[in-house]
Amino acid sequence: MTADSSNASGKSAPAGQAPSGQAPSGQAMWGGRFSAKPAELMQAINVSIGFDRRLAAQDLEGSRAHAAMLQKVGVITSADEAAIQKGLADIAAEMAEGTFPFREEFEDIHMNVEARLRELIGPVAGRLHTARSRNDQVALDFRMWVREACDRTIDQLKLLQAALVGKAEAHAATLMPGFTHMQTAQPVTFGHHLMAYVEMFGRDASRFADARARMNECPLGAAALAGSPFPIDRGMTAKALRFDRPTANSLDTVADRDFALESLAAATICAVHLSRLAEEIVIWMTPQFGFIRLSDAFTTGSSIMPQKKNPDAAELVRAKAGRLLAAFTQLTVVMKGLPMTYSKDMQEDKVPTFEAFDALELSLGAMAGMVGDLEPDVGRMAAAAGAGFSTATDLADWLVRTLDLPFRDAHHITGAAVKRAEQLGCDLPGLPLAELQALEPRIDRGVYDVLTPAASAASRKSYGGTAPDQVRTQIQRWKESLA
Ligand code: ARG
Repeated sequence: MTADSSNASGKSAPAGQAPSGQAPSGQAMWGGRFSAKPAELMQAINVSIGFDRRLAAQDLEGSRAHAAMLQKVGVITSADEAAIQKGLADIAAEMAEGTFPFREEFEDIHMNVEARLRELIGPVAGRLHTARSRNDQVALDFRMWVREACDRTIDQLKLLQAALVGKAEAHAATLMPGFTHMQTAQPVTFGHHLMAYVEMFGRDASRFADARARMNECPLGAAALAGSPFPIDRGMTAKALRFDRPTANSLDTVADRDFALESLAAATICAVHLSRLAEEIVIWMTPQFGFIRLSDAFTTGSSIMPQKKNPDAAELVRAKAGRLLAAFTQLTVVMKGLPMTYSKDMQEDKVPTFEAFDALELSLGAMAGMVGDLEPDVGRMAAAAGAGFSTATDLADWLVRTLDLPFRDAHHITGAAVKRAEQLGCDLPGLPLAELQALEPRIDRGVYDVLTPAASAASRKSYGGTAPDQVRTQIQRWKESLA
């Protein structure tokens, strides 16, 4: 956010400025049709400068492109354009310094900028709004804000992926139990587990990129809803504002916010992915699991229990998914059933979108920090990888491959072996050969080669499998694509 709005009381205008609801010229912004000031409650429900001030930079950039285009096509003179550009640059400087007066009596960011421009350069400021409406103006500003938010998010996702890839590379061969139903299933490597999230966050980044590509059409020039009678050059403003092309239907342009919805949907899915990794960090950090240690940087202590180290950052990332889904839900409901074209309902698009991206930005940053910081307890993980008869499938597969048994029979013999090991209080690699031969006489010593967690993981060499060499192949691929 730029400057604060401490002088935005909405009741008393600063000395030398227009009274509430009026432009400095003494006219209400919407001209001569209104004679009375709005009710105070009307102003309270209508005012949006408290939040849409976050569109200030986009609003100024859009206005500068619009003024240049108006001059180019001969709608305003070079002298007028120069005065407008100078005024807009001065406003940008005021915003950078924090001295720009954000005022509630001017309702929103668009009218605040226009009112200030008039104060700075006089009535020529009024020419800027030729061939433009707040409807295409807000559609432009908001679209540019969301576009930037998507770009920032993609960058953050790449940083998070890089952190995961780095950890995965260090632990491409570190064993851990793989789970289904949260029950020990088969040994996997920690690197493989981390790389699963790299894939998820890669798809998240591509969803933001898809949304960005679809939204990258310039709304400016749709005007109020029907287009403009002036000879505007929409291609020129589209290019100046880094859009691929102008939007093709002026009604659609001012009426839809699906670019924000799509981005919020992508953000929600991303937050859900983050929440799952966050949950695993919480579980791994429990003394019962003891799989990882997290640095003091991303944990907190307890005010009463001195032994505690709480994974608060992970818990908060886990919780933020709620905010993201709430924002997506909120804007979906705002848009549902709105008749064409613009309705003031759509002013309610901004707060959820801003809040959602703020929460996502914090979450991605905290998660990248936690991933970089976490240190696995390799010994504990390896021990857990062998617990719970995790190589039972390997035994069954060995019986199929070596003795040519049907898988169902192999499964049955393996089940009996697990039962016997349980009775004897040992694990599968610890089961005496005589015990195995009692179940199937053709079993020989060779079977022990496949019963360790390391052998089990190393054997899963199929493309995308958990074998350390496969994991390293995927790490290499991602390192190249993230570089
Ligand atoms: N503050 C408004 C918004 O965010 C700007 C557009 C207002 N347009 C209008 N016709 N009242 O939607």
